[in-house]
Amino acid sequence: MLETERAKAPVVVVDAGNALWKGAILSESDRGQEERKATLIAESYALVGIDAMGVGDGELAFGLPWLQALQKQHNLPYVAANLDCGGEHPFEAGKVVERGGLRIGIVGLVGNSAKVQGCLASEPIAAAEAAFAKLGTVDIRILLSTQQMADDQRVAEKLPDLDFIVNGGERRENLIPEPLSTGGLLLAGGSRGKKVGMLSFDSIGTGHDWRDAGALGELARRKDATSQRIKEAEEKLAKSEDPKEQARLKTRIEYYKKQVIELEKQLGAATAGGASRSVENRFVELGTDVADHPATAALVARAKEEISALVGIVKPTALGTGPFVGSAACLPCHAAQASQWSTTPHARAYASLGAQNRQKDEACYSCHVTGAFHPDGPHSPGVVGGLENVGCESCHGPGRDHVATPASVDMVAKPEMAVCTQCHDGVKDEGRFDPVQYLVRVSHTSPHLEAPSTNPAPPVVKP
Ligand code: HEC
Ligand code: HEC
Ligand code: HEC
Ligand code: HEC
Repeated sequence: MLETERAKAPVVVVDAGNALWKGAILSESDRGQEERKATLIAESYALVGIDAMGVGDGELAFGLPWLQALQKQHNLPYVAANLDCGGEHPFEAGKVVERGGLRIGIVGLVGNSAKVQGCLASEPIAAAEAAFAKLGTVDIRILLSTQQMADDQRVAEKLPDLDFIVNGGERRENLIPEPLSTGGLLLAGGSRGKKVGMLSFDSIGTGHDWRDAGALGELARRKDATSQRIKEAEEKLAKSEDPKEQARLKTRIEYYKKQVIELEKQLGAATAGGASRSVENRFVELGTDVADHPATAALVARAKEEISALVGIVKPTALGTGPFVGSAACLPCHAAQASQWSTTPHARAYASLGAQNRQKDEACYSCHVTGAFHPDGPHSPGVVGGLENVGCESCHGPGRDHVATPASVDMVAKPEMAVCTQCHDGVKDEGRFDPVQYLVRVSHTSPHLEAPSTNPAPPVVKP
Protein backbone atom coordinates (compact mmCIF):
# COMPACT_ATOMS: atom_id res chain seq x y z
CA MET A 1 0.00 0.00 0.00
CA LEU A 2 2.81 2.32 0.96
CA GLU A 3 4.45 1.62 -2.39
CA THR A 4 1.33 2.86 -4.21
CA GLU A 5 1.31 6.06 -2.16
CA ARG A 6 5.01 6.56 -2.72
CA ALA A 7 4.52 6.32 -6.46
CA LYS A 8 2.06 9.24 -6.26
CA ALA A 9 3.96 11.72 -4.08
CA PRO A 10 6.83 11.96 -1.62
CA VAL A 11 5.94 10.22 1.64
CA VAL A 12 7.31 10.63 5.16
CA VAL A 13 6.74 7.54 7.30
CA VAL A 14 6.64 7.90 11.08
CA ASP A 15 5.50 5.91 14.09
CA ALA A 16 4.54 7.92 17.16
CA GLY A 17 5.66 5.22 19.61
CA ASN A 18 4.22 2.45 21.77
CA ALA A 19 4.51 0.20 18.76
CA LEU A 20 6.36 -2.69 20.35
CA TRP A 21 4.25 -3.51 23.41
CA LYS A 22 1.02 -2.29 24.96
CA GLY A 23 2.31 -0.79 28.21
CA ALA A 24 5.04 -0.24 30.74
CA ILE A 25 4.86 -3.67 32.31
CA LEU A 26 6.03 -6.85 30.64
CA SER A 27 5.87 -10.02 32.69
CA GLU A 28 8.73 -12.50 32.60
CA SER A 29 6.48 -15.18 31.13
CA ASP A 30 5.56 -12.94 28.18
CA ARG A 31 9.03 -11.64 27.55
CA GLY A 32 10.42 -14.25 25.14
CA GLN A 33 7.43 -14.09 22.80
CA GLU A 34 7.01 -10.36 23.02
CA GLU A 35 10.69 -9.71 22.30
CA ARG A 36 10.36 -11.81 19.17
CA LYS A 37 7.23 -9.94 18.11
CA ALA A 38 8.84 -6.57 18.83
CA THR A 39 11.80 -7.61 16.71
CA LEU A 40 9.39 -8.50 13.92
CA ILE A 41 7.82 -5.03 14.10
CA ALA A 42 11.28 -3.43 14.01
CA GLU A 43 12.37 -5.60 11.07
CA SER A 44 9.20 -4.72 9.15
CA TYR A 45 9.61 -1.01 9.78
CA ALA A 46 13.23 -1.16 8.70
CA LEU A 47 12.14 -2.97 5.54
CA VAL A 48 9.44 -0.41 4.74
CA GLY A 49 11.94 2.40 5.31
CA ILE A 50 10.65 4.36 8.29
CA ASP A 51 11.84 7.96 8.77
CA ALA A 52 11.32 8.49 12.49
CA MET A 53 9.98 6.57 15.49
CA GLY A 54 8.78 7.80 18.85
CA VAL A 55 9.62 6.13 22.15
CA GLY A 56 6.98 5.18 24.70
CA ASP A 57 6.38 2.82 27.59
CA GLY A 58 5.80 0.11 25.01
CA GLU A 59 9.40 0.44 23.82
CA LEU A 60 10.96 1.02 27.24
CA ALA A 61 9.20 -2.01 28.76
CA PHE A 62 11.92 -4.19 27.23
CA GLY A 63 14.65 -2.23 29.03
CA LEU A 64 16.94 0.37 27.57
CA PRO A 65 19.88 -1.90 26.64
CA TRP A 66 17.56 -4.22 24.72
CA LEU A 67 15.94 -1.33 22.85
CA GLN A 68 19.31 0.20 22.02
CA ALA A 69 20.56 -3.14 20.69
CA LEU A 70 17.42 -3.46 18.54
CA GLN A 71 17.90 0.08 17.28
CA LYS A 72 21.50 -0.60 16.37
CA GLN A 73 20.77 -3.86 14.64
CA HIS A 74 17.98 -2.49 12.43
CA ASN A 75 19.17 1.09 12.21
CA LEU A 76 15.92 2.39 13.71
CA PRO A 77 15.38 6.17 13.67
CA TYR A 78 14.22 6.65 17.29
CA VAL A 79 13.85 10.25 18.44
CA ALA A 80 13.35 11.27 22.09
CA ALA A 81 14.40 14.78 23.07
CA ASN A 82 13.44 14.52 26.74
CA LEU A 83 14.47 10.99 27.65
CA ASP A 84 17.19 11.67 30.17
CA CYS A 85 19.14 8.77 31.64
CA GLY A 86 21.39 10.31 34.26
CA GLY A 87 22.30 13.21 31.99
CA GLU A 88 22.76 10.95 28.96
CA HIS A 89 20.30 11.00 26.07
CA PRO A 90 20.09 7.49 24.67
CA PHE A 91 18.39 8.59 21.43
CA GLU A 92 18.72 11.53 19.09
CA ALA A 93 16.45 14.45 20.00
CA GLY A 94 15.31 14.96 16.43
CA LYS A 95 16.23 14.73 12.77
CA VAL A 96 15.66 16.34 9.40
CA VAL A 97 14.13 14.40 6.52
CA GLU A 98 14.40 15.94 3.05
CA ARG A 99 11.47 15.03 0.80
CA GLY A 100 9.94 16.65 -2.27
CA GLY A 101 12.12 19.73 -1.91
CA LEU A 102 11.08 20.27 1.71
CA ARG A 103 13.09 20.02 4.89
CA ILE A 104 10.94 18.25 7.46
CA GLY A 105 12.07 18.47 11.08
CA ILE A 106 10.93 15.66 13.40
CA VAL A 107 11.41 15.70 17.18
CA GLY A 108 10.33 13.08 19.72
CA LEU A 109 8.93 13.51 23.24
CA VAL A 110 8.31 10.77 25.78
CA GLY A 111 5.45 10.96 28.27
CA ASN A 112 6.24 11.47 31.93
CA SER A 113 5.07 7.97 32.73
CA ALA A 114 8.15 6.71 30.88
CA LYS A 115 9.54 4.18 33.31
CA VAL A 116 12.90 2.69 32.77
CA GLN A 117 15.52 2.28 35.40
CA GLY A 118 17.81 5.28 35.75
CA CYS A 119 15.86 7.41 33.26
CA LEU A 120 13.21 10.08 33.47
CA ALA A 121 11.22 12.27 31.12
CA SER A 122 12.62 15.76 31.48
CA GLU A 123 10.64 18.97 30.97
CA PRO A 124 9.18 18.62 27.45
CA ILE A 125 8.84 22.24 26.31
CA ALA A 126 12.47 23.22 26.80
CA ALA A 127 13.63 19.90 25.36
CA ALA A 128 11.49 20.27 22.21
CA GLU A 129 12.51 23.91 21.73
CA ALA A 130 16.19 23.05 21.95
CA ALA A 131 15.75 20.05 19.65
CA PHE A 132 14.01 22.05 16.91
CA ALA A 133 16.56 24.88 17.24
CA LYS A 134 19.33 22.37 16.64
CA LEU A 135 17.71 21.20 13.39
CA GLY A 136 18.14 24.65 11.81
CA THR A 137 15.73 25.99 9.20
CA VAL A 138 12.98 23.56 8.31
CA ASP A 139 9.75 23.89 6.31
CA ILE A 140 7.56 21.55 8.35
CA ARG A 141 7.87 20.70 12.06
CA ILE A 142 6.50 17.40 13.34
CA LEU A 143 6.46 16.23 16.94
CA LEU A 144 6.14 12.52 17.74
CA SER A 145 4.77 12.24 21.24
CA THR A 146 3.91 9.53 23.72
CA GLN A 147 2.62 12.10 26.22
CA GLN A 148 -1.03 12.64 27.04
CA MET A 149 -2.78 14.82 24.45
CA ALA A 150 -3.40 17.58 27.02
CA ASP A 151 0.37 17.80 27.55
CA ASP A 152 0.84 18.00 23.78
CA GLN A 153 -1.47 21.01 23.70
CA ARG A 154 0.65 22.70 26.39
CA VAL A 155 3.85 22.09 24.44
CA ALA A 156 2.25 23.47 21.26
CA GLU A 157 1.35 26.74 23.00
CA LYS A 158 5.05 27.39 23.44
CA LEU A 159 6.09 26.24 19.95
CA PRO A 160 4.12 28.48 17.59
CA ASP A 161 5.81 27.13 14.46
CA LEU A 162 4.78 23.55 15.12
CA ASP A 163 2.80 22.01 12.26
CA PHE A 164 1.78 18.52 13.37
CA ILE A 165 1.87 16.44 16.51
CA VAL A 166 1.41 12.71 16.09
CA ASN A 167 0.36 11.22 19.41
CA GLY A 168 1.07 7.62 20.32
CA GLY A 169 0.54 8.09 24.04
CA GLU A 170 -3.23 7.77 24.10
CA ARG A 171 -4.71 4.95 22.11
CA ARG A 172 -7.15 7.23 20.42
CA GLU A 173 -7.98 7.65 16.79
CA ASN A 174 -9.05 11.10 15.65
CA LEU A 175 -10.25 11.12 12.08
CA ILE A 176 -10.75 14.88 12.29
CA PRO A 177 -7.44 16.12 13.74
CA GLU A 178 -7.69 18.24 16.86
CA PRO A 179 -6.64 21.84 16.21
CA LEU A 180 -3.71 23.16 18.24
CA SER A 181 -4.04 26.66 19.66
CA THR A 182 -1.21 27.76 17.38
CA GLY A 183 -2.69 26.63 14.07
CA GLY A 184 -1.15 23.17 13.90
CA LEU A 185 -2.97 19.86 14.11
CA LEU A 186 -2.89 17.02 16.63
CA LEU A 187 -3.19 13.58 15.09
CA ALA A 188 -3.49 10.13 16.61
CA GLY A 189 -3.59 6.79 14.94
CA GLY A 190 -5.46 4.42 17.22
CA SER A 191 -4.06 1.22 18.61
CA ARG A 192 -3.13 -2.34 17.65
CA GLY A 193 -1.63 -1.30 14.33
CA LYS A 194 -4.86 -2.05 12.52
CA LYS A 195 -4.87 1.13 10.49
CA VAL A 196 -2.44 3.49 8.86
CA GLY A 197 -3.15 7.18 9.25
CA MET A 198 -2.42 9.17 6.09
CA LEU A 199 -2.14 12.92 6.24
CA SER A 200 -1.84 14.53 2.82
CA PHE A 201 -0.84 18.15 2.43
CA ASP A 202 0.16 20.49 -0.33
CA SER A 203 3.75 21.66 -0.27
CA ILE A 204 2.68 25.01 -1.74
CA GLY A 205 2.34 27.89 0.71
CA THR A 206 3.97 28.79 3.97
CA GLY A 207 2.76 29.39 7.50
CA HIS A 208 1.57 26.97 10.12
CA ASP A 209 -2.16 27.56 10.01
CA TRP A 210 -3.52 24.20 8.94
CA ARG A 211 -7.12 23.27 8.22
CA ASP A 212 -8.49 19.84 7.68
CA ALA A 213 -10.26 19.84 4.32
CA GLY A 214 -12.16 16.75 5.40
CA ALA A 215 -13.51 18.59 8.46
CA LEU A 216 -14.53 21.59 6.33
CA GLY A 217 -16.32 19.27 3.93
CA GLU A 218 -18.10 17.60 6.83
CA LEU A 219 -19.29 20.95 8.25
CA ALA A 220 -20.53 22.04 4.83
CA ARG A 221 -22.32 18.74 4.35
CA ARG A 222 -24.07 19.05 7.73
CA LYS A 223 -25.14 22.59 6.92
CA ASP A 224 -26.67 21.52 3.59
CA ALA A 225 -28.48 18.59 5.20
CA THR A 226 -29.93 20.82 7.94
CA SER A 227 -31.06 23.44 5.42
CA GLN A 228 -32.78 20.68 3.48
CA ARG A 229 -34.63 19.58 6.65
CA ILE A 230 -35.84 23.16 7.21
CA LYS A 231 -37.19 23.22 3.67
CA GLU A 232 -39.06 19.94 4.15
CA ALA A 233 -40.53 21.05 7.48
CA GLU A 234 -41.68 24.36 5.97
CA GLU A 235 -43.43 22.54 3.12
CA LYS A 236 -45.19 20.28 5.63
CA LEU A 237 -46.18 23.29 7.72
CA ALA A 238 -47.74 25.01 4.72
CA LYS A 239 -49.95 21.96 4.12
CA SER A 240 -50.78 21.13 7.75
CA GLU A 241 -54.17 21.90 9.27
CA ASP A 242 -53.62 20.28 12.66
CA PRO A 243 -52.64 23.00 15.21
CA LYS A 244 -50.64 20.50 17.31
CA GLU A 245 -48.59 19.42 14.30
CA GLN A 246 -48.10 23.03 13.28
CA ALA A 247 -46.66 23.88 16.71
CA ARG A 248 -44.36 20.86 16.56
CA LEU A 249 -43.10 21.78 13.11
CA LYS A 250 -42.49 25.39 14.14
CA THR A 251 -40.35 24.27 17.11
CA ARG A 252 -38.44 21.95 14.83
CA ILE A 253 -37.78 24.68 12.27
CA GLU A 254 -36.54 27.02 15.04
CA TYR A 255 -34.18 24.33 16.24
CA TYR A 256 -32.78 23.62 12.78
CA LYS A 257 -32.31 27.33 12.08
CA LYS A 258 -30.23 27.68 15.24
CA GLN A 259 -28.15 24.71 14.10
CA VAL A 260 -27.50 26.29 10.71
CA ILE A 261 -26.33 29.52 12.39
CA GLU A 262 -23.98 27.53 14.62
CA LEU A 263 -22.59 25.55 11.64
CA GLU A 264 -22.08 28.77 9.66
CA LYS A 265 -20.15 30.17 12.62
CA GLN A 266 -17.90 27.11 12.72
CA LEU A 267 -17.38 27.21 8.95
CA GLY A 268 -16.53 30.90 9.17
CA ALA A 269 -14.00 30.26 11.92
CA ALA A 270 -12.51 27.36 10.02
CA THR A 271 -11.96 29.36 6.83
CA ALA A 272 -11.03 32.67 8.49
CA GLY A 273 -7.59 34.10 7.88
CA GLY A 274 -7.54 33.08 4.23
CA ALA A 275 -3.87 32.15 4.46
CA SER A 276 -4.64 28.73 5.92
CA ARG A 277 -3.16 25.59 4.38
CA SER A 278 -5.20 22.54 3.83
CA VAL A 279 -4.63 18.89 4.79
CA GLU A 280 -6.63 15.75 4.38
CA ASN A 281 -6.54 13.05 7.02
CA ARG A 282 -7.70 9.50 6.51
CA PHE A 283 -7.16 6.06 7.94
CA VAL A 284 -6.52 3.03 5.83
CA GLU A 285 -7.69 -0.14 7.47
CA LEU A 286 -5.18 -2.92 6.99
CA GLY A 287 -7.82 -5.55 6.36
CA THR A 288 -7.71 -8.53 4.05
CA ASP A 289 -8.35 -6.29 1.04
CA VAL A 290 -4.92 -4.70 1.47
CA ALA A 291 -2.43 -7.10 -0.09
CA ASP A 292 0.43 -8.27 2.13
CA HIS A 293 3.83 -6.88 1.30
CA PRO A 294 5.59 -10.12 0.19
CA ALA A 295 8.88 -9.52 2.01
CA THR A 296 7.04 -8.51 5.21
CA ALA A 297 4.76 -11.54 4.95
CA ALA A 298 7.87 -13.72 4.81
CA LEU A 299 9.22 -12.05 7.97
CA VAL A 300 5.88 -12.67 9.71
CA ALA A 301 5.85 -16.35 8.75
CA ARG A 302 9.37 -16.79 10.07
CA ALA A 303 8.58 -15.01 13.34
CA LYS A 304 5.53 -17.24 13.90
CA GLU A 305 7.63 -20.36 13.44
CA GLU A 306 10.24 -19.09 15.85
CA ILE A 307 7.59 -18.21 18.44
CA SER A 308 6.11 -21.70 18.14
CA ALA A 309 9.54 -23.24 18.66
CA LEU A 310 10.11 -20.94 21.61
CA VAL A 311 7.13 -22.26 23.53
CA GLY A 312 7.90 -25.85 22.70
CA ILE A 313 5.51 -28.74 22.48
CA VAL A 314 2.11 -28.63 24.14
CA LYS A 315 2.50 -30.43 27.43
CA PRO A 316 -0.51 -31.94 29.14
CA THR A 317 -2.00 -29.71 31.83
CA ALA A 318 -2.35 -30.80 35.38
CA LEU A 319 -5.46 -32.64 34.17
CA GLY A 320 -4.82 -35.19 36.89
CA THR A 321 -5.12 -32.69 39.75
CA GLY A 322 -6.48 -29.31 38.50
CA PRO A 323 -10.17 -28.35 38.70
CA PHE A 324 -10.65 -28.84 34.93
CA VAL A 325 -11.09 -32.32 33.50
CA GLY A 326 -11.73 -31.67 29.81
CA SER A 327 -14.85 -32.25 27.70
CA ALA A 328 -14.17 -35.95 27.17
CA ALA A 329 -14.99 -36.61 30.82
CA CYS A 330 -18.53 -35.24 30.44
CA LEU A 331 -19.44 -37.24 27.39
CA PRO A 332 -20.50 -40.53 29.02
CA CYS A 333 -23.32 -38.87 31.02
CA HIS A 334 -24.28 -35.95 28.72
CA ALA A 335 -24.04 -37.47 25.27
CA ALA A 336 -26.83 -35.36 23.77
CA GLN A 337 -25.26 -32.04 24.81
CA ALA A 338 -21.82 -33.25 23.76
CA SER A 339 -23.10 -34.28 20.38
CA GLN A 340 -24.68 -30.85 19.81
CA TRP A 341 -21.54 -29.08 21.10
CA SER A 342 -19.34 -31.01 18.68
CA THR A 343 -21.22 -29.39 15.78
CA THR A 344 -20.40 -25.85 16.97
CA PRO A 345 -17.28 -23.85 16.06
CA HIS A 346 -16.34 -24.00 19.76
CA ALA A 347 -15.33 -27.62 19.25
CA ARG A 348 -12.89 -26.58 16.51
CA ALA A 349 -11.57 -23.36 18.02
CA TYR A 350 -8.07 -24.72 18.64
CA ALA A 351 -7.74 -25.99 15.08
CA SER A 352 -8.58 -22.46 13.86
CA LEU A 353 -5.48 -21.21 15.63
CA GLY A 354 -3.49 -24.09 14.23
CA ALA A 355 -4.44 -23.10 10.70
CA GLN A 356 -2.71 -19.79 11.38
CA ASN A 357 0.22 -21.26 13.28
CA ARG A 358 -0.85 -19.36 16.39
CA GLN A 359 -1.56 -22.14 18.91
CA LYS A 360 1.51 -21.21 20.93
CA ASP A 361 0.80 -17.50 20.84
CA GLU A 362 0.21 -15.88 24.25
CA ALA A 363 -2.03 -13.32 22.55
CA CYS A 364 -4.30 -15.94 21.02
CA TYR A 365 -4.64 -19.17 22.95
CA SER A 366 -6.73 -17.97 25.92
CA CYS A 367 -10.08 -17.70 24.11
CA HIS A 368 -9.50 -20.75 21.97
CA VAL A 369 -8.97 -23.15 24.88
CA THR A 370 -10.84 -24.04 28.09
CA GLY A 371 -10.26 -22.50 31.50
CA ALA A 372 -7.66 -19.82 30.72
CA PHE A 373 -9.77 -17.18 32.49
CA HIS A 374 -9.98 -19.24 35.69
CA PRO A 375 -7.32 -18.72 38.37
CA ASP A 376 -6.54 -22.45 38.37
CA GLY A 377 -6.85 -22.99 34.63
CA PRO A 378 -4.03 -23.15 32.07
CA HIS A 379 -2.11 -19.87 31.98
CA SER A 380 0.33 -20.53 29.21
CA PRO A 381 -0.16 -21.85 25.69
CA GLY A 382 2.36 -24.57 26.49
CA VAL A 383 0.18 -26.31 29.08
CA VAL A 384 -3.25 -26.63 27.48
CA GLY A 385 -3.06 -30.34 26.67
CA GLY A 386 -6.52 -31.90 27.15
CA LEU A 387 -8.16 -28.46 27.34
CA GLU A 388 -7.92 -27.52 23.68
CA ASN A 389 -11.07 -25.85 22.23
CA VAL A 390 -13.89 -23.99 23.96
CA GLY A 391 -15.09 -27.04 25.88
CA CYS A 392 -17.99 -27.72 28.25
CA GLU A 393 -16.16 -26.24 31.23
CA SER A 394 -15.65 -22.89 29.43
CA CYS A 395 -19.34 -22.24 29.98
CA HIS A 396 -20.28 -24.54 32.86
CA GLY A 397 -17.22 -24.03 35.06
CA PRO A 398 -14.63 -26.56 36.23
CA GLY A 399 -16.06 -30.06 36.52
CA ARG A 400 -13.72 -32.30 38.51
CA ASP A 401 -15.89 -32.51 41.64
CA HIS A 402 -19.12 -32.82 39.67
CA VAL A 403 -17.72 -35.71 37.63
CA ALA A 404 -16.79 -37.52 40.85
CA THR A 405 -20.17 -37.01 42.53
CA PRO A 406 -22.70 -35.53 40.06
CA ALA A 407 -25.63 -35.54 42.44
CA SER A 408 -23.90 -33.60 45.19
CA VAL A 409 -21.92 -31.02 43.17
CA ASP A 410 -23.81 -28.74 40.80
CA MET A 411 -22.41 -27.25 37.65
CA VAL A 412 -23.45 -23.80 36.40
CA ALA A 413 -26.70 -24.83 34.73
CA LYS A 414 -27.25 -21.76 32.60
CA PRO A 415 -24.12 -19.69 31.98
CA GLU A 416 -24.55 -15.92 32.08
CA MET A 417 -23.83 -13.63 29.17
CA ALA A 418 -20.72 -12.39 31.01
CA VAL A 419 -19.21 -15.81 30.42
CA CYS A 420 -19.57 -15.41 26.66
CA THR A 421 -18.20 -11.87 26.63
CA GLN A 422 -14.96 -12.93 28.29
CA CYS A 423 -14.09 -14.18 24.81
CA HIS A 424 -16.64 -12.47 22.59
CA ASP A 425 -15.15 -9.22 23.80
CA GLY A 426 -16.18 -6.99 20.93
CA VAL A 427 -12.55 -6.54 19.87
CA LYS A 428 -10.96 -9.85 18.93
CA ASP A 429 -14.25 -11.02 17.47
CA GLU A 430 -14.54 -7.77 15.54
CA GLY A 431 -17.83 -6.94 17.22
CA ARG A 432 -19.72 -9.85 15.69
CA PHE A 433 -21.35 -11.02 18.92
CA ASP A 434 -25.14 -10.83 18.99
CA PRO A 435 -26.34 -12.13 22.39
CA VAL A 436 -29.66 -13.51 21.16
CA GLN A 437 -28.55 -15.03 17.86
CA TYR A 438 -25.37 -16.44 19.32
CA LEU A 439 -27.03 -18.06 22.34
CA VAL A 440 -29.48 -19.88 20.09
CA ARG A 441 -26.57 -21.29 18.15
CA VAL A 442 -24.85 -22.83 21.18
CA SER A 443 -27.93 -23.92 23.07
CA HIS A 444 -28.06 -27.72 23.25
CA THR A 445 -31.81 -27.81 22.99
CA SER A 446 -32.31 -25.79 19.84
CA PRO A 447 -32.25 -27.54 16.49
CA HIS A 448 -28.78 -27.93 15.06
CA LEU A 449 -28.21 -24.75 13.15
CA GLU A 450 -24.62 -25.34 12.19
CA ALA A 451 -24.02 -26.67 8.71
CA PRO A 452 -22.21 -30.00 8.79
CA SER A 453 -18.56 -29.15 8.98
CA THR A 454 -15.94 -30.20 6.46
CA ASN A 455 -13.45 -29.42 9.19
CA PRO A 456 -13.86 -32.38 11.55
CA ALA A 457 -13.77 -31.80 15.28
CA PRO A 458 -10.39 -32.74 16.71
CA PRO A 459 -10.20 -36.10 18.49
CA VAL A 460 -11.22 -35.77 22.12
CA VAL A 461 -8.25 -36.26 24.41
CA LYS A 462 -8.71 -38.70 27.28
CA PRO A 463 -7.79 -37.24 30.65
C1 HEC B 1 -21.07 -39.64 35.93
C2 HEC B 1 -22.01 -38.90 35.16
C3 HEC B 1 -21.76 -37.44 34.93
C4 HEC B 1 -20.64 -36.87 34.46
C5 HEC B 1 -19.32 -37.56 34.09
C6 HEC B 1 -20.92 -35.46 34.30
N1 HEC B 1 -22.19 -35.19 34.71
FE1 HEC B 1 -23.14 -33.42 34.64
N2 HEC B 1 -24.73 -34.20 35.56
C7 HEC B 1 -24.87 -35.52 35.89
C8 HEC B 1 -26.13 -35.69 36.59
C9 HEC B 1 -26.67 -37.01 37.11
C10 HEC B 1 -26.73 -34.41 36.67
C11 HEC B 1 -28.01 -34.05 37.32
C12 HEC B 1 -27.68 -33.70 38.75
C13 HEC B 1 -28.85 -33.24 39.57
O1 HEC B 1 -29.93 -33.11 39.03
O2 HEC B 1 -28.58 -32.94 40.74
C14 HEC B 1 -25.81 -33.50 36.00
C15 HEC B 1 -26.04 -32.14 35.84
C16 HEC B 1 -25.26 -31.30 35.06
C17 HEC B 1 -25.58 -29.95 34.74
C18 HEC B 1 -26.68 -29.10 35.28
C19 HEC B 1 -28.02 -29.43 34.91
C20 HEC B 1 -28.98 -28.66 35.80
O3 HEC B 1 -30.07 -28.50 35.34
O4 HEC B 1 -28.60 -28.27 36.91
C21 HEC B 1 -24.59 -29.48 33.95
C22 HEC B 1 -24.48 -28.10 33.32
C23 HEC B 1 -23.65 -30.55 33.81
N3 HEC B 1 -24.07 -31.63 34.49
C24 HEC B 1 -22.48 -30.43 33.11
C25 HEC B 1 -21.49 -31.40 33.15
C26 HEC B 1 -20.17 -31.18 32.61
C27 HEC B 1 -19.69 -29.91 31.94
C28 HEC B 1 -19.48 -32.32 32.80
C29 HEC B 1 -18.03 -32.58 32.47
C30 HEC B 1 -17.08 -31.74 33.13
C31 HEC B 1 -20.37 -33.24 33.45
N4 HEC B 1 -21.56 -32.65 33.66
C32 HEC B 1 -20.03 -34.54 33.79
C33 HEC B 1 -24.02 -36.55 35.59
C34 HEC B 1 -22.73 -36.37 35.11
C1 HEC C 1 -13.40 -19.45 26.19
C2 HEC C 1 -13.85 -18.52 25.19
C3 HEC C 1 -15.28 -18.54 24.73
C4 HEC C 1 -16.43 -18.54 25.49
C5 HEC C 1 -16.54 -18.55 27.01
C6 HEC C 1 -17.53 -18.50 24.57
N1 HEC C 1 -17.07 -18.51 23.28
FE1 HEC C 1 -18.18 -18.55 21.59
N2 HEC C 1 -16.50 -18.68 20.45
C7 HEC C 1 -15.22 -18.63 20.95
C8 HEC C 1 -14.30 -18.81 19.85
C9 HEC C 1 -12.79 -18.81 19.96
C10 HEC C 1 -15.06 -18.98 18.69
C11 HEC C 1 -14.54 -19.21 17.28
C12 HEC C 1 -14.29 -20.65 17.07
C13 HEC C 1 -13.65 -20.90 15.72
O1 HEC C 1 -14.33 -20.77 14.68
O2 HEC C 1 -12.47 -21.21 15.71
C14 HEC C 1 -16.46 -18.88 19.10
C15 HEC C 1 -17.54 -19.02 18.24
C16 HEC C 1 -18.85 -18.88 18.63
C17 HEC C 1 -19.97 -18.98 17.74
C18 HEC C 1 -19.90 -19.23 16.25
C19 HEC C 1 -19.63 -17.94 15.53
C20 HEC C 1 -19.53 -18.10 14.04
O3 HEC C 1 -20.29 -17.47 13.35
O4 HEC C 1 -18.67 -18.85 13.59
C21 HEC C 1 -21.10 -18.77 18.49
C22 HEC C 1 -22.53 -18.78 17.98
C23 HEC C 1 -20.68 -18.55 19.85
N3 HEC C 1 -19.31 -18.64 19.90
C24 HEC C 1 -21.53 -18.28 20.91
C25 HEC C 1 -21.14 -18.21 22.26
C26 HEC C 1 -22.04 -17.99 23.38
C27 HEC C 1 -23.51 -17.69 23.25
C28 HEC C 1 -21.29 -18.07 24.50
C29 HEC C 1 -21.75 -17.97 25.94
C30 HEC C 1 -22.85 -18.80 26.33
C31 HEC C 1 -19.92 -18.32 24.09
N4 HEC C 1 -19.86 -18.38 22.73
C32 HEC C 1 -18.86 -18.47 24.95
C33 HEC C 1 -14.85 -18.47 22.24
C34 HEC C 1 -15.71 -18.50 23.33
C1 HEC D 1 -10.51 -12.25 23.67
C2 HEC D 1 -10.68 -13.57 23.11
C3 HEC D 1 -9.94 -13.94 21.85
C4 HEC D 1 -8.60 -13.88 21.63
C5 HEC D 1 -7.51 -13.40 22.59
C6 HEC D 1 -8.39 -14.37 20.28
N1 HEC D 1 -9.58 -14.76 19.74
FE1 HEC D 1 -9.84 -15.63 17.92
N2 HEC D 1 -11.84 -15.59 18.18
C7 HEC D 1 -12.48 -15.17 19.32
C8 HEC D 1 -13.91 -15.23 19.12
C9 HEC D 1 -14.96 -14.86 20.14
C10 HEC D 1 -14.12 -15.69 17.81
C11 HEC D 1 -15.44 -15.92 17.12
C12 HEC D 1 -15.83 -14.69 16.38
C13 HEC D 1 -17.17 -14.81 15.70
O1 HEC D 1 -17.23 -15.39 14.61
O2 HEC D 1 -18.14 -14.30 16.25
C14 HEC D 1 -12.79 -15.95 17.26
C15 HEC D 1 -12.56 -16.47 15.99
C16 HEC D 1 -11.32 -16.73 15.49
C17 HEC D 1 -11.07 -17.44 14.25
C18 HEC D 1 -12.11 -18.08 13.39
C19 HEC D 1 -12.21 -17.52 12.06
C20 HEC D 1 -12.81 -16.16 12.05
O3 HEC D 1 -12.06 -15.18 11.80
O4 HEC D 1 -14.01 -16.04 12.28
C21 HEC D 1 -9.72 -17.47 14.08
C22 HEC D 1 -8.94 -18.09 12.92
C23 HEC D 1 -9.13 -16.79 15.20
N3 HEC D 1 -10.13 -16.38 16.05
C24 HEC D 1 -7.77 -16.61 15.38
C25 HEC D 1 -7.23 -15.90 16.44
C26 HEC D 1 -5.83 -15.51 16.51
C27 HEC D 1 -4.81 -15.76 15.44
C28 HEC D 1 -5.67 -14.87 17.71
C29 HEC D 1 -4.42 -14.20 18.23
C30 HEC D 1 -3.91 -13.14 17.43
C31 HEC D 1 -6.96 -14.88 18.39
N4 HEC D 1 -7.86 -15.51 17.57
C32 HEC D 1 -7.16 -14.40 19.66
C33 HEC D 1 -11.90 -14.77 20.50
C34 HEC D 1 -10.55 -14.51 20.66
C1 HEC E 1 -20.77 -21.86 24.75
C2 HEC E 1 -21.24 -22.28 26.04
C3 HEC E 1 -21.54 -23.71 26.31
C4 HEC E 1 -20.71 -24.79 26.09
C5 HEC E 1 -19.34 -24.79 25.48
C6 HEC E 1 -21.42 -25.93 26.60
N1 HEC E 1 -22.64 -25.56 27.08
FE1 HEC E 1 -23.96 -26.73 28.09
N2 HEC E 1 -25.26 -25.20 28.22
C7 HEC E 1 -25.02 -23.92 27.76
C8 HEC E 1 -26.21 -23.13 27.96
C9 HEC E 1 -26.38 -21.67 27.56
C10 HEC E 1 -27.16 -23.95 28.60
C11 HEC E 1 -28.57 -23.55 29.08
C12 HEC E 1 -29.66 -24.21 28.33
C13 HEC E 1 -29.55 -24.07 26.84
O1 HEC E 1 -29.60 -22.94 26.34
O2 HEC E 1 -29.39 -25.09 26.17
C14 HEC E 1 -26.52 -25.24 28.76
C15 HEC E 1 -27.11 -26.33 29.36
C16 HEC E 1 -26.46 -27.54 29.63
C17 HEC E 1 -27.01 -28.63 30.40
C18 HEC E 1 -28.35 -28.63 31.08
C19 HEC E 1 -29.37 -29.41 30.28
C20 HEC E 1 -29.71 -28.76 28.97
O3 HEC E 1 -29.39 -29.36 27.92
O4 HEC E 1 -30.23 -27.65 28.97
C21 HEC E 1 -26.07 -29.63 30.39
C22 HEC E 1 -26.19 -30.99 31.03
C23 HEC E 1 -24.96 -29.17 29.61
N3 HEC E 1 -25.22 -27.89 29.17
C24 HEC E 1 -23.84 -29.91 29.35
C25 HEC E 1 -22.80 -29.51 28.51
C26 HEC E 1 -21.71 -30.36 28.11
C27 HEC E 1 -21.52 -31.77 28.53
C28 HEC E 1 -20.93 -29.62 27.29
C29 HEC E 1 -19.70 -30.07 26.52
C30 HEC E 1 -19.81 -31.24 25.70
C31 HEC E 1 -21.50 -28.29 27.23
N4 HEC E 1 -22.65 -28.27 27.94
C32 HEC E 1 -20.93 -27.22 26.53
C33 HEC E 1 -23.86 -23.45 27.21
C34 HEC E 1 -22.75 -24.22 26.89
